[in-house]
Amino acid sequence: MTKYFQVAIDGPASAGKSTIAKIIAKNLKYVYVDTGAMYRSITLAAKKAGISYENEEQIAELLPNISIRFEPGVPVQRVFLNDEEITEAIRSTDVTNNVSLVASYASVRENLLKYQRQIATDNHVIMDGRDIGTTVLPDAQVKIFLVASVEERAERRYKENTAKGMTPDFETLKKDIEDRDYKDSHREISPLTQASDAILVDTTGLSIEEVVSKITNIIKKNQNN
Ligand code: DC
Repeated sequence: MTKYFQVAIDGPASAGKSTIAKIIAKNLKYVYVDTGAMYRSITLAAKKAGISYENEEQIAELLPNISIRFEPGVPVQRVFLNDEEITEAIRSTDVTNNVSLVASYASVRENLLKYQRQIATDNHVIMDGRDIGTTVLPDAQVKIFLVASVEERAERRYKENTAKGMTPDFETLKKDIEDRDYKDSHREISPLTQASDAILVDTTGLSIEEVVSKITNIIKKNQNN
């Protein structure tokens, strides 16, 4: 059993995991680990190297040369790939629509698993992703499975993209989210699934503050045990 406290937050795309995890990490002074950003970084690295997303072998060969680093930033954590800042680039539509395929490769998952576990052995962490409670940190003291209706998740993305000056199409956003959920839940290795000891939190109709408070209460209860 680790001497550090581990909080795992898993759930489907756009359920609000990173928004919630970031706030709680700041409040509790835990390290926030965005594992989705790691898979996105490898997807972008493949693109930059001119490797097809379909080519697992070449992506696997690229892995030893990839270094991903996070730095605190406002409003989002900054992400660096071999010292090049990629904070915004990993949120592009191309990366978003192809990351599920890259994340399904065994070589990619094994590589990131080591890195993710290493961070959690040296710090109190709140880590979000798809397989944190089931695979990465199976002994986490708190496991949350965060969900929301697909309409609400698409609505949140729609508002975010509009605020960025984009002109998104609601139905396309909704379909992209459903496609990604399907791929993430049906892959062979570490698919998205609720750990048997995870607490289900449905954020549909809840404000960010309400979700933060709900999860913080769960963490505090477990810290006192
Ligand atoms: O959380 P996100 O949308 O940034 O994640 C991007 C993709 O990365 C997601 O569609 C699937 C993959 N992912 C994963 O397979 N396992 C994780 N622990 C986190 C993300």
